[in-house]
Amino acid sequence: MNHNSKTALITGGTRGIGRAIALALAGQVENIALLYAGRRDAAEDTVNALLGKGVKSLAFACDVADSAQAKAACDQAREAFGPISILVNSAGITRDGLTLRMPPEDFKRVIEVNLAGAFHTIQACYRDLMKAGWGRVVNIGSVSGLMGNPGQMNYSAAKAGLVGLTKTLARELAGRGVTANLVAPGFIDTDMTRELPDGTLARALAQVPMGRMGKAEEVAAAVNYLCSPGADYVTGCVLQVDGGMYM
Ligand code: NAI
Repeated sequence: MNHNSKTALITGGTRGIGRAIALALAGQVENIALLYAGRRDAAEDTVNALLGKGVKSLAFACDVADSAQAKAACDQAREAFGPISILVNSAGITRDGLTLRMPPEDFKRVIEVNLAGAFHTIQACYRDLMKAGWGRVVNIGSVSGLMGNPGQMNYSAAKAGLVGLTKTLARELAGRGVTANLVAPGFIDTDMTRELPDGTLARALAQVPMGRMGKAEEVAAAVNYLCSPGADYVTGCVLQVDGGMYM
């Protein structure tokens, strides 16, 4: 492997928005490591799509909520490709329920995957980013973290937490040429939103001035920009890709 080439690591990079981000970043990096939980077929499919674009790629199964597993996966990616210069945290889950009935374990699990998961990978890649003198971290938040959403106390709290985490990282690493930003999607057509109960989607779309769901590729385009050299002076920002849903 050529360890001087650029390497991106994308959590949740095998499906949905994460996969679209991987395919978009294929235009500006040589190596892409994907972290995922669950569907191995989707992981293999995305790796093959990246190989088809001439990018070296490997997928590592791990639960980002577990700091040891997240670190081990980041270490394996570094061994294969060299230091990580672009880290995108897209892994996320929902466990929706009205507050009175939400089991505390559902609250904790969503915080552990969506918020602590990003902390774990950032910590595991921190030295790489610090040493290189150039780097990018993009965390995938949500409009729910900016405006709240009934039935998503866990998810909204985790995504709001990512805003503070991102800004802290931006301040810590600004002097090292590393930017940290958050992309906050609105309603995007992926497996996650296909699972929504009837009526929820219609109610959500009624709040979107553009009147339609977004595409994973539209979120990926924003991430691709933030990872590009053109965004060298953009850090600590929240970039919404939500059809005007929250303004
Ligand atoms: P998805 O359900 O299609 O994909 C989720 C990805 O995360 C998969 O690759 C899965 O393997 C991975 N993952 C889940 N739990 C994990 C764990 N514990 N450890 C490692 N990997 C894990 O979801 P989608 O829609 O692509 O969402 C991606 C991100 O975008 C999430 O953070 C989500 O919260 C966020 N988002 C999605 C929106 C939507 O409308 N689809 C709206 C706003 C934010």
